[in-house]
Amino acid sequence: MKEIKKIAINTGGGDAPGLNAVIKGATISALNNGWEVVGIRDGYNGIFLEENYPQGGLMNLTRERVADITPLGGTILGTTNRGNPFAYPMKNEKGEIVEIDRSDEIMEGFRENNIDALIAIGGDGSLSMANKICKKGMRVVGVPKTIDNDLDKTVITFGFDTAVSFATESIDRLHSTAQAHGRIMVVEVMGRYAGWIALNSGISASADAILIPEIPYDIEKVSACLKKIRSEKGYAIVVVAEGAKPKDGNVFVVEKQAGRAERLGGVGEKVTSDIQYLTGIETRSVILGHLLRGGSPTTFDRLLSLRFGAAAVRALAAGENGIMVALAPPTVNYVPLEQATNRMKCVPVDSDTVMTARELGICFGE
Ligand code: F6P
Repeated sequence: MKEIKKIAINTGGGDAPGLNAVIKGATISALNNGWEVVGIRDGYNGIFLEENYPQGGLMNLTRERVADITPLGGTILGTTNRGNPFAYPMKNEKGEIVEIDRSDEIMEGFRENNIDALIAIGGDGSLSMANKICKKGMRVVGVPKTIDNDLDKTVITFGFDTAVSFATESIDRLHSTAQAHGRIMVVEVMGRYAGWIALNSGISASADAILIPEIPYDIEKVSACLKKIRSEKGYAIVVVAEGAKPKDGNVFVVEKQAGRAERLGGVGEKVTSDIQYLTGIETRSVILGHLLRGGSPTTFDRLLSLRFGAAAVRALAAGENGIMVALAPPTVNYVPLEQATNRMKCVPVDSDTVMTARELGICFGE
């Protein structure tokens, strides 16, 4: 196998707190191996759409550049969740939007810049792309990122702990205003395919009902349960994941666009108006949305991200390829990218966490 002299790092998909800590962990470890490190701006854009970057599509990653970035949210490299290079939306001669595979241009960019290996930090979409890049001949190690925690084969993704902590604190704050007005408060949190954020924050912050994609809800049952709780304690709190759906219904989609996943939203508002109608109790909604992705990572996420970054370099140095670093307490191990991106990690409905919620009297609207 060719000796590694230079690696690239990229961040793809929605940002998550801890991205910069992974970049730092990987950069310092790689520099300590004597490797050169560059970051690709905005996913793969910096390497195959270089003309859009007057300052250069690649960022030199030095000790100085990454020294202070551990506590920063976002990503110094930028990211994107549109314009998948394997199905890049472009206009044809007739002016129609068609999807073109531009991955050869990425491979060409790697060759031109003498990049020997890639550390791809991303969720299911970005890591599936990384897996395809690997199959085209690039040495690749993936790092699991997403606030939604829906990536398989790792106990947890970085970013999730920060998002859940913020959601918990936000729901805590709603108790007093809900109590003061005798209202039902509905809090919508992110979670497209999996209800981890809603479940963990809802239980931790004493919600009365939690609606998650894994357990389609019956709004009549949710309302009956909230009416009873409101009559007992004077108010009620509902946490709903953006990907939750009614029994015999569909997820709430706000936008469909070529080259990217459909944008979800609206379930919180719909549940709010239905509950108010069915219970006759004043009901208000709050959408936490992108607030969950912002801010400084928690200590847990900082440490996990630094460990993931360092482990990614350790894996490359050991000759690993086509793998993702994964948390398997007490250690970080390696799993094939293929397996990690094969299916979503949803909340097991028979898990002890769901059982705990039921035992605490939390309603899922089943
Ligand atoms: O990171 C995943 C996620 O947070 C999903 O829960 C959500 O649907 C999506 O990102 C929204 O991303 P954006 O609004 O940036 O397109």
